[in-house]
Amino acid sequence: MPRPGVPDPYRRRAREAGYVSRAVFKLKAMDARFHLVRRGQRVLDLGCSPGSWLQYLGERVGPQGLVLGVDVKPPAVSLKPPLDFLAGDVQSLDLAALREKAPSFDLVVSDLAPATSGIREVDESRSLALARAALAAARQLLRPGGHFLVKVFEGPDLPQLVAEVGQVFAEVHRAKPAGSRAASRELYLVGLKKKGAPPPPDQNPGQHG
Ligand SMILES: C[S@@+](CC[C@H](N)C(=O)[O-])C[C@H]1O[C@@H](n2cnc3c(N)ncnc32)[C@H](O)[C@@H]1O
Repeated sequence: MPRPGVPDPYRRRAREAGYVSRAVFKLKAMDARFHLVRRGQRVLDLGCSPGSWLQYLGERVGPQGLVLGVDVKPPAVSLKPPLDFLAGDVQSLDLAALREKAPSFDLVVSDLAPATSGIREVDESRSLALARAALAAARQLLRPGGHFLVKVFEGPDLPQLVAEVGQVFAEVHRAKPAGSRAASRELYLVGLKKKGAPPPPDQNPGQHG
């Protein structure tokens, strides 16, 4: 957490650039390293509020893309296309409502963070549950070949989560981007290239006949 009275350069830079949160610099750094987002893509942003990731992703996908945010709290940014929002808890996601917005996504990102209790084990286990909910969403909604980014906390269950991400993605990387406070145990897992064949083309002869 920021210490009272100690200036935070990332917060000041975010404000000057018009972003609603300093979290944007973490996503920017990971995008620069892993080339996660491209123009025209459909992106699902889990735990999107107040919305600096929405702002950045919207700039990157451009007017032909879609950035759909999900959060229990509404974002503090203007939701003009390509930005869209669905209110909800990621642990009970309305998949049908998400699929109505887009049948599949090219990228799923999660900056989900639980309300902290101050009790280390409780916070770790809540954070793990949110990361698993994000992975479940990526399993169901991300296209083969798509990428995944999820915030996690260093803890004894992390190797198991890394293995779970590795079952779904061809590559798994750990990232502690600039902008993530050194004292914080947060880090991000990046799953690149979701495994699995793309769906076959429509074989219905009536459609091509
Ligand atoms: C660190 S903030 C995300 C910051 C965001 N990436 C940005 O750039 O502004 C974490 C968010 O996770 C959301 N969150 C926590 N638990 C959630 C849940 N079960 N379902 C949906 N959102 C949740 C919180 O409401 C909060 O807005």
